[in-house]
Amino acid sequence: QPLVFSGVQPTGNLHLGNYLGAIRRWVALQDAYPCLFCVVDLHAITVWQEPAELERCIRELAAAFIASGIDADKHILFNQSRVPEHAELAWIFNCVARLGWMNRMTQFKDKAGKDRENASLGLLAYPSLMAADILAYRATLVPVGEDQKQHLELTRDIAAKFNHDFSERIAEKGLGHPIAMGEETVQGFFPLTDPLIEGPATRVMSLKDGSKKMSKSDPSDLSRINLSDEADTIAKKIRKAKTDPDALPSEAAGLAGRPEADNLVGIFAALDGRSKADVLAEYGGRPFSEFKPALADLAVAKLAPIATEMRRILDDPAEIDRTLRHGAERARAIASRTLGDVKSIVGLLNG
Ligand code: AMP
Ligand code: TRP
Repeated sequence: QPLVFSGVQPTGNLHLGNYLGAIRRWVALQDAYPCLFCVVDLHAITVWQEPAELERCIRELAAAFIASGIDADKHILFNQSRVPEHAELAWIFNCVARLGWMNRMTQFKDKAGKDRENASLGLLAYPSLMAADILAYRATLVPVGEDQKQHLELTRDIAAKFNHDFSERIAEKGLGHPIAMGEETVQGFFPLTDPLIEGPATRVMSLKDGSKKMSKSDPSDLSRINLSDEADTIAKKIRKAKTDPDALPSEAAGLAGRPEADNLVGIFAALDGRSKADVLAEYGGRPFSEFKPALADLAVAKLAPIATEMRRILDDPAEIDRTLRHGAERARAIASRTLGDVKSIVGLLNG
């Protein structure tokens, strides 16, 4: 039975990119697969987080998931640090993965910046923990935005190396499963994960600069639409979004070389559940002065109810904590079985 796993860091400023690139697509997958959705608090602390602010952000993110339509009764919603198996498996993966693999990660290079010697060791090992998140549940379907592709490839590399390094032991202990590797099927313990990166908004760009992705850490609040923004703020940000002077093209090919136009059309398409071509069939030839108000209305209609629901949920933090605790208990029941098997494969006396 394929399982979905995905996570978001509780680092504040949850934005339209997170929503369209990840959360909204989780909601769509809920009907088809059993899912685990995780507030990855241990990933958040790979860079400094103010403790009181971190607590607030964990609850806020959980509220955003629920307000967006995640069903925390039917599926498993939890915060990562409540399931110690994630950190435990990440340690074992730290000993499987190679330093060179981590050094190549573009997110590490970006986040560490010039002063790499001063980055936390956790920031370097970040992808190993992400692999553990996914593989603790032997999940194969991972819906994320484009920026996580490299991390998911590393997850596959770790799974493949573990299966290879311990192949005899996996067979001896009878813990092998059929694993599809391209055309052939081999016996292994961990499955190879498939990234689910699709749709018109896997990379939502800044509203102020079409060459930069929309990000939680952009100093300009006008660069992003936050999930917590009120209706008039959403409308204002779209009005002020950067564009070029030309009218919209009537075909998607006409968006080439026009990153800001491409971005706004992609946002419209994703919010409305259509393709870019479909949006352009309607708006092609029309100026931004007509397209922007339509986009603002659509964004407000889709996002403002989420903000309202988030505020309602946040009124009862004890209830959020109960939900996360309950989710963690259910997650742990699965992850601890995986860890038991992993320990016996690796040769760590256990039980
Ligand atoms: P993060 O905020 O880095 O924890 O990201 C959480 C999820 O949102 C991941 O699946 C990311 O790939 C996705 N995401 C973040 N920024 C964007 C963006 N600008 N466009 C599309 N998806 C994004
Ligand atoms: N690294 C992801 C991000 O920044 C968050 C994440 C952590 C994640 N663990 C995961 C995503 C497991 C998918 C699966 O967006």
